[in-house]
Amino acid sequence: MPATIVVGTQWGDEGKGKFTDLIAKEMSAVVRYQGGHNAGHTLVVDGESFALQLVPSGVLYDHITPIIGNGVVVDPVVLLAEMDMLASKGVDCSRLKVSGNAHMILPYHQELDRLIERHLGKNKLGTTKRGIGPTYADKASRVGIRLQDLLDPTIFREKLRVAVAEKNLVLAKVYNRLGFDADELADRYLDDVLPRIAPHIADTVSLVHEFLEAGNHVLFEGAQATFLDIDHGTYPYVTSSNPVAGGACVGAGVGPRAIDRVVGIAKAYVTRVGAGPFPTELHDEIGDRICEIGHEFGTNTGRRRRCGWFDIPMMRQAVRLNSLSELAITKLDVLDTFDTVKACVAYDIDGRRVEHLPYHQSDFHAATPVYEEFAGWGTDLSAVTERAGLPAAADAYLAFLEREVGVPISLVGTGPGREQFVHFTA
Ligand code: IMP
Repeated sequence: MPATIVVGTQWGDEGKGKFTDLIAKEMSAVVRYQGGHNAGHTLVVDGESFALQLVPSGVLYDHITPIIGNGVVVDPVVLLAEMDMLASKGVDCSRLKVSGNAHMILPYHQELDRLIERHLGKNKLGTTKRGIGPTYADKASRVGIRLQDLLDPTIFREKLRVAVAEKNLVLAKVYNRLGFDADELADRYLDDVLPRIAPHIADTVSLVHEFLEAGNHVLFEGAQATFLDIDHGTYPYVTSSNPVAGGACVGAGVGPRAIDRVVGIAKAYVTRVGAGPFPTELHDEIGDRICEIGHEFGTNTGRRRRCGWFDIPMMRQAVRLNSLSELAITKLDVLDTFDTVKACVAYDIDGRRVEHLPYHQSDFHAATPVYEEFAGWGTDLSAVTERAGLPAAADAYLAFLEREVGVPISLVGTGPGREQFVHFTA
């Protein structure tokens, strides 16, 4: 019963979708376990680009069952729109299953996400405003509405009335806003959403276990990333779920012993969207060049991503938090034209050299990077597919990262296409 987790090791947008797509051939099911449509996976297949938010990337393979697990927060309207977009490009979504235990993002969650951000002013988190935080908050407060509730219209109406009554009070009294009409909302979801989504709602925990028990390979696909994790990330500048590998167990309903392999995905540099500490961030022309060459703008929101050099102490922490068995490095080709390439090997915190992520957030804010500098390779890597074809300088840079991080680098991405990667370790 082989099971693999793919997890982002930085602040998201590492190119997890491309990796998932790469190993999809061996998989029978691909499971999303947390997050919602705050994620954005871009896949380029046969020159065509697919931007996915909710549907697991395995959908592009006919032999894969794409599964949205219980830990995901689902805006069903967005899900249906994404399925329509895929259908218009000839992709069959009929196999898609979504957990009845997944919580629904409803219009009032999105409205609250926007209002809370505005209320925070200069302290805002820079959320994607998709309603992610308010939906997970309702889940934890036990006033959330799950997809399975839609299947029982009486229950759905009742739960919606209770939830909307409370939300309307908050909207009116805290934010001076008009509220929602629970009955109108219920009619809309029961008439327009339910008939289309019902065939996809399933007991996904049983489904995942059936795949595993039959000896099929299941891939658990993380969204966002390790340092956006609500427990282990740079709180409060995090998302509201657990992207770390352990989140796969909770968000899909499997125990830790079911997992055989955990693949961490890291860019050859680091990016971050939204606010929060970022020790290796570049505020200069080099940062602008990385952003431009790497097309570092949000798939979803179009926001410019902050860019900086590779951060080894962060990666060491990611190895610990996720029990990484290996690392896949993406977008190495973005650094092709740089004269020198840097990697942060430690932080200087008030004159102390620190080689691991500091525990206290104030220390992380105060951390300045200690860099190791490497000669650039000045070669176009886009056609390189074997380690032997890598220029010596690129090989040396990767070998250094591998040694310092402490886990093998299995794959290295050299371009956006499906074929553009190098097997680094045999
Ligand atoms: P939220 O997930 O919309 O609540 O946003 C919380 C933080 O996570 C913000 O800093 C977002 O920019 C960040 N974030 C959420 N989803 C992604 C993603 O898929 N990639 C990168 N950053 C993300």
